[in-house]
Amino acid sequence: MELISTRKCMTRDVGFNGNLFGGLMLSWLDEAAVAYACQVAETPRMVTVSIEKVQFRKPVRPGQIIKIYGEVKRLNNSSLDIEVEARRVSSYNGSQKVICTTSMRYVRIDGDGEPVPIAKSVRNKFLTQQQEKEKSNGENEA
Ligand SMILES: CC(C)(COP(=O)(O)OP(=O)(O)OC[C@H]1O[C@@H](n2cnc3c(N)ncnc32)[C@H](O)[C@@H]1OP(=O)(O)O)[C@@H](O)C(=O)NCCC(=O)NCCS
Repeated sequence: MELISTRKCMTRDVGFNGNLFGGLMLSWLDEAAVAYACQVAETPRMVTVSIEKVQFRKPVRPGQIIKIYGEVKRLNNSSLDIEVEARRVSSYNGSQKVICTTSMRYVRIDGDGEPVPIAKSVRNKFLTQQQEKEKSNGENEA
């Protein structure tokens, strides 16, 4: 997975219990992933169409650093799926704990908001990368 965003939890970001608001965390994930989707699909026009189940496994407190990682898992005609993982990083020893993971789907749109195919060159590049990954996984298993 690739590092796609780094955030710091501020005192204004937490609720009554002192934990980061879940909704804010979701907006950070979406913001990071849509920017990544635009980069991968080589277009400024991508919209969020779906977000899979999200479970918040660890709390985040003010002062803590959050690193968001992403990986494109599937690229279809007009859409792509990004697996997203947010990790809390310890400022004391650098260790990371997973806060939440999910999968988000983004669709390429035109100026009218209608879906349009992702460029063929982008799809070919993705397929080549997938084949290379599978090959190297196969070699590592052998
Ligand atoms: C995303 C959007 C353009 C898709 O339009 P649509 O007419 O439903 O498009 P289609 O049925 O032709 O599907 C287009 C793609 O979207 C995907 N898609 C559509 N509805 C989906 C759903 N409910 N879940 C997952 N994927 C979906 C399809 O799989 C398809 O992908 P593919 O081309 O790679 O195969 C439209 O639903 C939309 O504008 N939604 C609002 C987006 C938005 O504002 N997001 C921010 C939320 S605040």
